[in-house]
Amino acid sequence: MPIMEWNSDLDVGVEAMNDEHKQILDLMNRIHDASTAGQTGAPVIKLVDDLAQVTIDHFRDEERYMEQTGYSGLATHKLIHKDLLEKYTGYATDIRAANGVLPDKFLMFLKLWLTAHIKGIDMKYGPKADQLKKAG
Ligand SMILES: [Fe+2]
Ligand SMILES: [Fe+2]
Repeated sequence: MPIMEWNSDLDVGVEAMNDEHKQILDLMNRIHDASTAGQTGAPVIKLVDDLAQVTIDHFRDEERYMEQTGYSGLATHKLIHKDLLEKYTGYATDIRAANGVLPDKFLMFLKLWLTAHIKGIDMKYGPKADQLKKAG
């Protein structure tokens, strides 16, 4: 069973960002499935490294998008990205040291990232946020 399926709650209203979020979600689900199936070692470490790379690329693209649209929350959003990436790197180091065994809190961390960051923080930069403001 996946951690989470893509659904409209995760739609930030920007196609390119949605696509990258789907890539992130897919990797999270693959890490979750591998771990549930009792996999460890190099295959798990590879997935964790892949998610790191996809995330680094995504944060860069997202920050560029916010710059281009003149989004006022850019500085705060950048700090949140930096913090997320530091936490992720910490976990990745632990996972490598444990030969691909995931710490208990790791999957919870991934899930929280999706719910809190994409739904709460990313949602604010897209056209959906403007629509909500106008509607309110
Ligand atoms: Fe973000
Ligand atoms: Fe994002």
